[in-house]
Amino acid sequence: MADKLKIGVDYYPEHWDKSLWKNDVRLMKEAGVNIVRMAEFAWSRLEPSEGVYSFGWLDEVISLFEEAGIEVFLCTPTSTPPQWLFEKYPEVIQSDRNKNRIPTGIRGHRCLNSPVYRKLAEKIIIKMVERYKDKKCVTGYQIDNELEANHCFCPVCEEKFRKWVISKYGTTDKLNKAYGNNVWSGEFSSFSQVKPPYGGHQQWLNPSHTLDFCRFASDSTADYVEFQYNLVKSIDKNALVTTNCWLCENMPDFYKLFQKLDFVSYDNYPALKLPEDKETLYSHSFHLDLMRGIKKKNFWIMEQLSGATGGWAPMAQTPRPGMLRGYAMQAVAHGADAVLHFRWRSAISGAEMFWHGIIDHSNVPGRRFEEFKQLCADIAKYSSIAGSQAKNSIALLYSSEHEYALKLQPQTEGMYYFGQLKSLHDAFSSIGLGVDIISEKEDLSAYKIIAAPTLFITNHEVAESLYKAARNGAAVIITNRTGVKDEYNKCVMQQLPSVYSELAGIHVAEYDPAGSGKLKLDIINKEWKQRYNKQYNPSPYCTQWCDLLECISAAPLAVYGGEFYKGIAAVTHNKYGKGNVYYIGTVMDRQSYISLAKVIAGEAGMQYIDKLPPGIEITQRYSTDGSKKWQFIFNNTTSRKEIFINGKNMEIEAFGMEIVEIEM
Ligand code: GAL
Repeated sequence: MADKLKIGVDYYPEHWDKSLWKNDVRLMKEAGVNIVRMAEFAWSRLEPSEGVYSFGWLDEVISLFEEAGIEVFLCTPTSTPPQWLFEKYPEVIQSDRNKNRIPTGIRGHRCLNSPVYRKLAEKIIIKMVERYKDKKCVTGYQIDNELEANHCFCPVCEEKFRKWVISKYGTTDKLNKAYGNNVWSGEFSSFSQVKPPYGGHQQWLNPSHTLDFCRFASDSTADYVEFQYNLVKSIDKNALVTTNCWLCENMPDFYKLFQKLDFVSYDNYPALKLPEDKETLYSHSFHLDLMRGIKKKNFWIMEQLSGATGGWAPMAQTPRPGMLRGYAMQAVAHGADAVLHFRWRSAISGAEMFWHGIIDHSNVPGRRFEEFKQLCADIAKYSSIAGSQAKNSIALLYSSEHEYALKLQPQTEGMYYFGQLKSLHDAFSSIGLGVDIISEKEDLSAYKIIAAPTLFITNHEVAESLYKAARNGAAVIITNRTGVKDEYNKCVMQQLPSVYSELAGIHVAEYDPAGSGKLKLDIINKEWKQRYNKQYNPSPYCTQWCDLLECISAAPLAVYGGEFYKGIAAVTHNKYGKGNVYYIGTVMDRQSYISLAKVIAGEAGMQYIDKLPPGIEITQRYSTDGSKKWQFIFNNTTSRKEIFINGKNMEIEAFGMEIVEIEM
């Protein structure tokens, strides 16, 4: 995909007097920038009134970059329709749950399903792509900006949702059965009664219905992306096409969203206060691993932290020395082939004037600019890393299905789906092992350890592939709230973990949604206990959720240390086929996860680092011909760290990155 690592900035020439452009390009060149992203929000500047186009200014800036030998990545500007468009076509504006059109004037706010909006978007996209298709320095397009699942409640969406439901279920009988509509007289006698989940009382609506709407909203966004992708490629088949995503409130199903796109792009704003949360030390790397896993290939950072963030909220602290450079290299270590910083210069107007760029409002290049320059030099030095791939033996399974369903029906105070994923990711990262976060539908055959937390919505193919993986010798980790629902989001009438009971060799006799308190956990497995005690003295505890486990073929590894279920199994191990299956019926303290990860990795024959200082990350990328690998050792902490690795002691500065090239 890439012949060299790319380093660059997001540039908004339309925000600046044109007298600044030349100097900006000169300074970028001097810093070592080799790519810029532009035009993301420039619709009103490109089409000031309907059908009247003004691309001259963009031509001019592109020529400046072309002369400087800097690659240009453009954006379809559809995320901010101009004011004239909203005024003339109010039917394109999104509607809220109460069917009111939302007030426009910020950004977004258009319904991705609106045919009128799509027609207008199509026109500006055609103009743009046709204009630049022969410009060599323009290499591709970012579709729109940070697309969320289209939770719109306009009449077009109502009709489309109804059609979506009809094509899924065919008859109202099937639909009523799937949703369990016999509760509260919810039965539909005609499809005309099917509507999006309107109103502000979501928790009182049928979760089968609301989950389907989440799926529909996500499909709508994926369909919109496909519409733009096809359009761009029909004009310029060589253009690279992507869209930039982030972890937002209404996340689309990333695996569907990016299915057709050439690669994944991510907007990376790691939290600046460290530790962001001491329970989730490896949270930045979690996001990056999630991005790499979407297409199981390298990705781009389309927006990278550049300065103090803020605007609508009070500003967060400015990045400490080393952070800009460190966090960009951290992204590379996890599989990024390009890192573009948001943004070149801080805006002097608009809502985001305090979301700082590399250069401050004064336009005087300062400390962060100098650090960015060093980063550009690092990237140039390690340019040949581009295209090399991560190869890990641990998979962590993610699905938006569970996330949507658990958001619709939170299970207990403090417990959330990403929390469970992060605990397991953190546990393996803490012992120096790389993790691929992938779709639960991926082929699992290459993995030695498969962590599959909270498989809340049952998918029988996923279950089959986990049984198969264990039969063939993999270690499989499953957790509380697994097998709870059928595919329609109804509870199953079986002892939990239902379809996974045989695999885990247990039944959940009862459960306690314990909430935020702490309960003593007694680790009874000798090996696990030893590993826990070796490094940590506080006693293990559990919280939030307690499955009271009845062992069928499994053996208990830990039992509850209190409550009416004192002595009952909380964590178990089962031998299944050639593999080992671990069931974690509760939510544990961080050290318990880490020490259990050691037991599991040891059992799986994987070499881990026993005493890796907290916050040190080890990742690897392998050249495509398999002749060498790069090992990345990153210190994501505020102090210098000493570590023993590769048979020697090494010191790494705060936010420092060591890259070791190893011939294989
Ligand atoms: C991103 C967005 C940018 C900008 C940035 C800083 O999420 O794509 O346009 O808003 O955040 O807030």
